[in-house]
Amino acid sequence: MSSGIPASSGLHVAIIPDGNGRWAVQRGRPRRAGHRAGAEAIRRVVDAAADLGIGHLTLFAFSSDNWERPAGEVEALFGLVRQFLLEQAPHWVGRGVRLRVIGRRDRLPTPLRAAIASAEEATAAGQGMQLRIAVDYSAREEILRAATRFYTTLEISQEAFGRMLARLSHTGESFPDVDLLIRTGGEQRLSDFLLWECAYAEMIFSKKLWPDFGEADLEEAIREYHTRPRRFGRLQAEKAG
Ligand code: IPE
Ligand code: IPE
Ligand code: MG
Repeated sequence: MSSGIPASSGLHVAIIPDGNGRWAVQRGRPRRAGHRAGAEAIRRVVDAAADLGIGHLTLFAFSSDNWERPAGEVEALFGLVRQFLLEQAPHWVGRGVRLRVIGRRDRLPTPLRAAIASAEEATAAGQGMQLRIAVDYSAREEILRAATRFYTTLEISQEAFGRMLARLSHTGESFPDVDLLIRTGGEQRLSDFLLWECAYAEMIFSKKLWPDFGEADLEEAIREYHTRPRRFGRLQAEKAG
């Protein structure tokens, strides 16, 4: 672990890696080139997160609303995700990283579905960083699906609902709430990402475009996170009484 960073093994960090298209346009290149550079940044940041000892990491790769983009861009994105998973899975196995993909699978191209299944299976025994990549993901859709099934359950509680949500997201088991949400690209919104899980997330918005985001930026975000008092509606310890 890097020196000077407080222990982060209990943290769930979520990232909305935005700005690939603008990065490419600024360089007079096709948006696809931005997504390629974005995949490279994801590779670096996943490694950096594991080096920092972060316990849980969720990355937004493709939102259900991203289907509204031109077919060629969607196809390029899916191709990149597939290639990324095939390349990284053996590396993650070596690092003890476990991958789960959340979101809908039924609309994805068959080769991508196969790559997801194979990467999940290969990394299933990973006891290190728990990595989730969201593909064809919509938080509202997941919440709605969980709600429609939920009325048959006997235990009605936020915990039980959270477990149901996690099961529907193909994770099989529950994932902790998000502690820190990072979004690059300058926009300050959630764009339908982890709405339930971000109830008390600290948020850091970076103006950097995603392909320019690196290890040092992640470290800086974690450092800032550790300076923020989290109260969850209570009073700070020293002010209680
Ligand atoms: C984020 O970059 C990647 C995906 C949404 C898949 P964008 O493609 O949204 O990049 P900008 O926001 O247009 O720059
Ligand atoms: C959010 O980015 C989705 C991903 C990064 C995968 P978008 O670029 O799609 O979000 P909006 O349209 O700016 O809200
Ligand atoms: Mg965008």
